[in-house]
Amino acid sequence: MRGFVQTPPNVVDQMVAMLFRDRRPSPSDRLLDPGCGPGAFIAGVLRWCAREGVEPPQIVGIELDPAHVTSARERFRNDPCVCIRGADFLDCQNQDRYDFIIGNPPYVSILQLSEQERAYYKSSFVTATGRFDLYMLFFEQAIRLLDARGTLVLVTPEKYAYVASAGRLRQKLAGLHVTDFVLLDESAFGSLTTYPAITRVRHSPPGPCRITTRGGAERIVNLPSDGASWRFHLRDGRPSLLTPSGETLREFCDRISCGIATGADRVFVMPSDHVPARLEKFAWPTISGRQLTMAPERIATTSSILVPYDRQGDLLPLAELEELGEYLRTPAIALRLRARSCVARKPWYSFHDSVPMRDLVRPKLICKDICAEASFWIDSKGEIIPGHSAYYLVPRVAALLEPMAHYLNSSLVRSWLRDHSQRAANGFLRNQSTILKQVPIISEVARDWRQLLGEHSLSADGDSLAVHLEPLP
Ligand SMILES: C[S@@+](CC[C@H](N)C(=O)[O-])C[C@H]1O[C@@H](n2cnc3c(N)ncnc32)[C@H](O)[C@@H]1O
Repeated sequence: MRGFVQTPPNVVDQMVAMLFRDRRPSPSDRLLDPGCGPGAFIAGVLRWCAREGVEPPQIVGIELDPAHVTSARERFRNDPCVCIRGADFLDCQNQDRYDFIIGNPPYVSILQLSEQERAYYKSSFVTATGRFDLYMLFFEQAIRLLDARGTLVLVTPEKYAYVASAGRLRQKLAGLHVTDFVLLDESAFGSLTTYPAITRVRHSPPGPCRITTRGGAERIVNLPSDGASWRFHLRDGRPSLLTPSGETLREFCDRISCGIATGADRVFVMPSDHVPARLEKFAWPTISGRQLTMAPERIATTSSILVPYDRQGDLLPLAELEELGEYLRTPAIALRLRARSCVARKPWYSFHDSVPMRDLVRPKLICKDICAEASFWIDSKGEIIPGHSAYYLVPRVAALLEPMAHYLNSSLVRSWLRDHSQRAANGFLRNQSTILKQVPIISEVARDWRQLLGEHSLSADGDSLAVHLEPLP
């Protein structure tokens, strides 16, 4: 079944202790385990009650997978206080209320959901926005079913605390009292690197939150009341020095995008010294995120990409591709190109992505899509076509290249990106155009850049400044 991961007993015991920390359960209380699986939390609650000499509350487990429903019913058949329901926890008809809710929701990304599921969730859950995940919807539903003064303890990926797609969930939590946020060791779930965290929420007015870091340090913080990222609270409790001043990177760039996906790099991309002489006129230098290893002020490429597009970004007719056309028509290569899903909607020898050549061949900055620390390289000649594991930023005028690289490579911006970027499974930062566009530009820097724009926009080609100051979409 989708999203099944068993919670280890030590994490269960830690969470049950947190659940009953302020108030012991009574037999008339109602306790819910949503997505109970074979019943790890139910067993943990019964264990705690037996140890403490407390009569257990009324326990309900809700589980979608029939095999887990059967095994949980079998496991608790001698515990009359336990009821296992074979049902969908995300069914919005559910009007029950619970004094205690504890669980480990499924982690299932939007990418694994069908179109129908996405549409249903988007119409029923406010947290179903952007690249949402089922655990966020479980969180929302659990908050909805939590009785006044009830307590909720869930273990989830920590990233809901800072990713943009969980802003709505943080907003919902801002109306309640998040009492604890405990970052668990990466190895808590064995080899699954989810960066787990336990959140404890009380259905009462907001108040201070105790953050426990992976090193075991504790501090009390006031979480943002507007759904903003909690990242800086998790790191060192101090906000990034870079506070938004109104101007962002998007205002100074004509394009901030992911590099080009061909859908068939083995056909189009090759070491530069392997490009046959007859194809050289179609070859551009290219670089992947992994190849960006040199010092940021120097950029050097060793690969080339064969580009069947003209400088306007229009795909050239096969007849005009000459030797490149012949190469692409080679049976094994043509077969491979035709096997790509993108060719259902475009000619068989196109790239997977559209190719904004006019911007691609301008002076620009390039960065990796995933990195330990964000760095930006300068392509001053504007001749490198970045691959799909890199991002590129085209400043409105080439004169901004150096100052922009200097600013983006500063510790100020690096720390802002650390606070605002999503994390990959290995803990590395994930650069994304949405985040890059929002990088705040401090007012002195913005003033200098505006001056440069003014000086260079009315340049040799006579372009007017007004054209360049249209905001990016
Ligand atoms: C991460 S597992 C946790 C299992 C168990 N609670 C534990 O901690 O060991 C999540 C569980 O949620 C169940 N599940 C997934 N979607 C569900 C839904 N919509 N309603 C109820 N259960 C669901 C899965 O079958 C799985 O058993």
